[in-house]
Parts: sequence; C-alpha cells; structure tokens
Amino acid sequence: MSTSTAERTVVVTGGTRGIGLEIGRVLLQDGYDVIAVARNLTDEYEALSAHHGARAEFMAADLSSREGVDSVARRIRSCTGLYGLVNNAAVAFSGLHAGLPRAEMESMLAVNLTAPMVLSQAAVKAMMRARTGRIVTISSICAQRPYRGLGVYSATKAALEGFTRVLAAEAGPWGVTANCVAPGFIDTAMSEGLDEVARGRIRRRSMLPHETSTGDAAASVSFLMSPAAGAITAEVLRVDAGAAA
Ligand SMILES: NC(=O)c1ccc[n+]([C@@H]2O[C@H](COP(=O)([O-])OP(=O)(O)OC[C@H]3O[C@@H](n4cnc5c(N)ncnc54)[C@H](OP(=O)(O)O)[C@@H]3O)[C@@H](O)[C@H]2O)c1
Repeated sequence: MSTSTAERTVVVTGGTRGIGLEIGRVLLQDGYDVIAVARNLTDEYEALSAHHGARAEFMAADLSSREGVDSVARRIRSCTGLYGLVNNAAVAFSGLHAGLPRAEMESMLAVNLTAPMVLSQAAVKAMMRARTGRIVTISSICAQRPYRGLGVYSATKAALEGFTRVLAAEAGPWGVTANCVAPGFIDTAMSEGLDEVARGRIRRRSMLPHETSTGDAAASVSFLMSPAAGAITAEVLRVDAGAAA
C-alpha cells in the first residue's frame, strides 16, 4: 500500500486500454482503488474488475462533451477517500495543419485539454480539503519537440504542462502535488497508424535498445503517486528512452 492515510482512490481517465489500462493495473497492485473512465468498457478492464472486485470501478463517460465531463466531476466530488487523479484520456488526429478539419481540432481541445482542466478543478478542491493528493497528467514529448502533423495535439500537451505548473503552485501549500509524465512513442491504438518508416525514425532517436512500453509509463505514474515522490511537484517526467533529450 503506497499511502498511509485513508485516502486511497485514484481516478484514471482513459483507463480501459493502452497506457491508462496499465496505469490502473499498476495502481491496483499498489493497493489503491481505481475508477477508470472511458466511453467503452473493454474486456481487459473487465478482467481487472473480475480480479480486484469493487476496487476496480468503471465509469462510462464521453469526455468530449460537457455533460460527460460534468458527470465525472460530480463522481470525483462524491468520492470518499479521493487520493489521485490521472488525466490520461486523449485523442490524436494527425495531419498537416493546413488541412486539419475543424471538428478534429475541437475534439482534441475538448478531450485533451478542457476535460483535464475541469476534472483537476474538481479533484484539487477535494484534495486541498483533505490536505493530501496527487494529480498526474499524461503529456507527450510532442509538447517540447516539433513533430510534423501533430500541431494541435502538441499544443494541447504543451498547455497541460503550463497548467500543471500553475496548479502545483496553487495547491502545493495544501500538500497536493501536480506533475506530468511525458511519454515518447508507445505501441497502442493511438499510435497504430504510424508506418514502418516513422517507427524506424523513432527507433534511431532512442538511446536505449528497447522500445518504451505502457508499463514504463505506468511505473512513472506509480512513482509519482507514492510517498517517495512527496517532494516532487511541477515536474515533467520524460519516459521516452532518451528520444527527445
Ligand atoms: N501511445 C503513444 O505513443 C503516446 C505517446 C505520448 C503520449 N501519449 C499519451 O498517453 C495517453 C494515453 O494514450 P494511449 O496511447 O494509451 O491511447 P489509447 O490507446 O487510444 O487509449 C485512449 C483512452 O482514452 C479513452 N478516451 C478516448 N477518447 C475519450 C473520450 N471522448 N471520452 C472518454 N474517454 C476517452 C479511450 O477509451 P474510449 O475510446 O472507450 O473512450 C481509451 O481508454 C494520452 O494522453 C496520449 O496523448 C501516448
């Protein structure tokens, strides 16, 4: 168990597959209760719930809509023992900016940026009252490096990093930390569109001989939730095998 207090529930958006599923799996192993938020329940998350019972809750919500975000904010406010929020859900539409459809821009802004800001507001109020809590937001190395075709996606991630630093400054006096984890390329549904040429380019940028995995990203979230990270706030932890160094 990573916390010594009664607060032990962590809300993980996008916790049903990819990086978020692995974050939920690791946090359950660490002893937290997890509430995974997504539009659809997956077989993989159902299997986690079967194993961990009521400790692995699923909440259906569409974070691209105001109603969906508000329903999750209400769940956060009603949560007894809220300890953490992991803003992980995101969507990525790629394409040169000159041709990017407006609907795709708005979808990325809503899911990747507005939702984390609204949910962080609900969470930080409860955490400040409890005088403890951890907010971890999943950014990307795109926030700091230019990758063609990812303009709006990168903008949402850069904005999240700026937002996190201010949130950390505002909530810090109440013992609440706010940090980002910024992965490089990880093989998930989000990145499945990348062709072999792009994957080869990524492999050549890597300093390490193996690809970054969902488990690597989840381990960093687990660390930032743990007592060992109690003095770390307003930080961006890159998990990219050195690709963007
Ligand atoms: N994969 C990479 O290479 C990579 C690299 C850097 C950063 N990241 C970041 O890592 C995080 C996780 O990415 P991933 O690769 O694991 O993505 P993923 O496999 O596509 O999973 C995305 C998760 O978000 C949920 N989601 C998407 N749209 C949603 C919506 N409108 N409302 C509620 N939930 C929604 C999905 O569930 P539903 O579809 O059922 O709603 C799913 O659980 C994201 O923040 C991403 O930007 C990924």
